[in-house]
Amino acid sequence: MSSIRCIPAPSLRVGMYLHKIGGSWLQHPFLRNSFLLTDPEDVRRILESGIDSVWIDESKGDALQDVEAVGESLYPSPSGADVALPDTPQQALPAASRPQRPDASTATPLDLEIERARRICLAGKAQVQAMFSDLRLGKTVDQASVMPLVEEIADSVWRNPAAMISVARLKTHDDYSYLHSVAVSALMLALARQLKLEDRLVRVAGIGGLMHDLGKAFMPLEVLNKPGRLTDEEFAVMKTHPAAGADALREGGCMPEVIDVALHHHERMDGRGYPYGLREDEISLLARMGAVCDVYDAVTSIRPYKRPWDPAMAMREMARWDGHFDTRVFNAFVKSVGIYPLGALVRLASDRLAVVVEPGTDSLLKPKVRAFYSTRSREKILPQVIDLAAPGCRDSIVSPESPEQWGLSNLEALWL
Ligand SMILES: [Fe+2]
Repeated sequence: MSSIRCIPAPSLRVGMYLHKIGGSWLQHPFLRNSFLLTDPEDVRRILESGIDSVWIDESKGDALQDVEAVGESLYPSPSGADVALPDTPQQALPAASRPQRPDASTATPLDLEIERARRICLAGKAQVQAMFSDLRLGKTVDQASVMPLVEEIADSVWRNPAAMISVARLKTHDDYSYLHSVAVSALMLALARQLKLEDRLVRVAGIGGLMHDLGKAFMPLEVLNKPGRLTDEEFAVMKTHPAAGADALREGGCMPEVIDVALHHHERMDGRGYPYGLREDEISLLARMGAVCDVYDAVTSIRPYKRPWDPAMAMREMARWDGHFDTRVFNAFVKSVGIYPLGALVRLASDRLAVVVEPGTDSLLKPKVRAFYSTRSREKILPQVIDLAAPGCRDSIVSPESPEQWGLSNLEALWL
């Protein structure tokens, strides 16, 4: 018999493992779907949100002791996350109160989450590719169809943000457009939580990130896939993708905030962006967030006309772009991704090059790194993992480095 059963929400108790909540993910009182209930406040939030039944997993938490269960007879036993659930009326959501980063005791180990993130990216790429195809065929897209994917991305980010953000960064020229959407969605989710936005807006940010560049589906393929820099005329064509995307999303009945991100993610705080040259307060918070996440993923990805920037180099360079980004949003972004993100190449005080294998938890400046190259002998050395935050560690990061400058490639092998 399945260990998963549907119970009335009032029967929910601390100690039970919440497997799934009914209704739309957009309206849940939590950003996560499945977790062990340890806080009576979480039980209260479920009851107050108007949800009347939930699924619990009795193999992972306390069982329902009496006959209150709605049980398997009413709802066929679900085998996994894609179970069909009854819709329930929802009410306004309380403000978000989740920690900004999973603490070390609850975060999923990085290597495990990297494997999951890879699978989600693969599925995400296929789904975004299908949306591009649908739009090119004159079909519409709707946000409801992307919600399960955004929910998966969000769950991965909550479990261990470094994994999904770093895996989604790795792409080839061919899958850039599709994986870029997945990457921006993950970055938007992490940033939204860093900014302590209310739960609904965190979800909207994730959806906005996934759908922000759909207007590219309407761009001529020879321009979109051009293996070189665009001419002024071609760039003028590309500048129409935000409006084209916004029109398509409007037609598909998407939320105004999601349309707003698509339309304004290329605006700049100094008014030098496009399509409208909006300035500062004229640009919404979600669109400002979209601008930062979009640029970070673009500059750290392989493009036809340039090699990707190293993640730490990207952080340093973007911080110098006066007038482009909202400073508060950018600073929160650095906190959410890390000054030295997973996979970043850094130079150590000990004259070695190293790759970040785990972002710092207490200090963003002290990640765990794998040293593999001597800058004195300019030779590879036996790799050594160093926790720069460990008591007694006397090594430290001197600067971010460009892999290209050192003639290094395939650094992913050092952290994947
Ligand atoms: Fe764009």
